[in-house]
Amino acid sequence: MAASDRLVAAARDARAHAVSDFSGFKVGAALETDAGEIITGCNIENATYGLTICAERVAIFKALSEGKRSFTRIAVVADTSDPTPPCGACRQIIWEFCGDAEVVMANLSKVTATLRMKDLLPLPFDRRLL
Ligand code: THU
Repeated sequence: MAASDRLVAAARDARAHAVSDFSGFKVGAALETDAGEIITGCNIENATYGLTICAERVAIFKALSEGKRSFTRIAVVADTSDPTPPCGACRQIIWEFCGDAEVVMANLSKVTATLRMKDLLPLPFDRRLL
């Protein structure tokens, strides 16, 4: 299986764990480290709604908490025909911790879009501006 297929497959599997009782919208994410390791996440909602955390940030925070620091790609999977791109908050976190990573968007059967972070967040705020 190609590396990108493995990453998307991992995001699809992670999506099954989504805690999305409020929106019913299940999302899975899979993050690839520079060593080829895969760390997954799913969206987690709660009764306040506002404390919801997206699949992408769960995957990134899990990876960071395990000491991983260098990432190449992230896959995002939802059951939609249109691509599900990362929300604004996730774009900021992906940019700061994964740089110009490739973002692979897919649904349950195919890849729907692949974009680099510099195109998803063209004028980022980051540590270089502090
Ligand atoms: N969501 C994600 O997990 N990732 C995205 O890229 C888009 C949105 C989640 C947040 C919320 O739990 C649900 O999808 C509906 O917005």
